[in-house]
Formats: sequence, structure tokens, C-alpha cells
Amino acid sequence: MSKTGYRAPAIAAEEVSLRVPENQRKEVRVLDVAAGTGLVGKELTRRGFTNIDAVEPSDNMMKQIKSSGIYTLMFQEFLGLGQNTIPKGTYDIVVSAGAIRENHIPLSGIDDMIHFTKTGGLVVLLMNNFDVGPKHKAESHMNQLEEKGLWCKESSEILSNYFLGKEGIVFIYRVL
Ligand SMILES: C[S@@+](CC[C@H](N)C(=O)[O-])C[C@H]1O[C@@H](n2cnc3c(N)ncnc32)[C@H](O)[C@@H]1O
Repeated sequence: MSKTGYRAPAIAAEEVSLRVPENQRKEVRVLDVAAGTGLVGKELTRRGFTNIDAVEPSDNMMKQIKSSGIYTLMFQEFLGLGQNTIPKGTYDIVVSAGAIRENHIPLSGIDDMIHFTKTGGLVVLLMNNFDVGPKHKAESHMNQLEEKGLWCKESSEILSNYFLGKEGIVFIYRVL
């Protein structure tokens, strides 16, 4: 467990790893959305991933992830604004932990994540399961995206010890 009791980055990396055989981890292209200080990237690196890009809007966080040496390309941008410079249809896996919540990535940022992912690629989204309002809004938006035929849900799983013993949830979607 991390010193802060925040387990989302390790769980996110584990969920990604479960879906990528070890001999493919150097090739698959991964985008860490809302990378923060780079904890998800660090956990992915520990599991053999080497082709990881990041999106993170904050100056301070961006300085930290630049100095980490983990990421190849780093986009200092907000998702959900209707425009960004991140290439479309590019990533095998888009992963994001802890950023679908009040005052963070808006629901339209989830649509952006679909656009960055290759057809047949995966979006792996982790969020807390105790701020029920944001979680319900996100889930209903993600269901609408499925009804529109943009992606299909592979799984959702409750995580019993996401943050200091409180629950989280991981959603896995395949982009169509
Ligand atoms: C709680 S941190 C999570 C960081 C990292 N994913 C982790 O699990 O350690 C949330 C991050 O979301 C970023 N963020 C907030 N709004 C965003 C947006 N619209 N687009 C992309 N990132 C955003 C913040 O700058 C912050 O670094």
C-alpha cells in the first residue's frame, strides 16, 4: 500500500497488465489521462510498459512528470473543453485514475478519451465509489455512450480498498 493509502495507481496498472501479455508491454501505446505526479505511469513501468504518454493540465504536476522520465509525450491540456492536440485513434489503452470527480474532468472528457483510443482498444477508468453523485453521473453518461455505439462495457468491479479502506470502482470499456 502507498504511504497515503491511495491504491488507485497500483490497481489501475494491474488492470492494464491483466489485459496485456508481458511480451507485448513494450509495444502497446498507453495514455495516462490526468497523470498527476505520474503514479500510474510509475506503476505501469514497474510492470514492463515503456510506451506511455501523459495528459496533465497543471504546471506543478507537469514539472514533476517531466522530471520523472517515465513518459514519452506529455500534453499539458485539459480534457473536456471541446478541443485538444492529443492524436485521435492512437492508443491501445487509455487509463485514468482518480480524475472523474467534482471539479476535475467533466463528462465530455470521457468522450475525448474514446477519441484518443484505437478501434478495439481499451479505456480503463477508476474512480471513487463514495462520492455517489459524480459516480452516478459518470455511469449514466458512459451508458449513453454505449447506447450510441461508441464503446461497449467489458466489466465494472467494486474495489474494496481504493483509498484508506473506502471503495472505488473500475470500469473497462472496449472502443468500437
Ligand atoms: C486526484 S489527481 C489524480 C492523479 C493521478 N491520476 C493519480 O491517480 O495519482 C487528479 C488530476 O486530474 C487533473 N485534472 C483536473 N481536471 C482535468 C481535466 N479537465 N483534464 C485533464 N486532467 C485534469 C488534475 O490536474 C490532477 O492532477
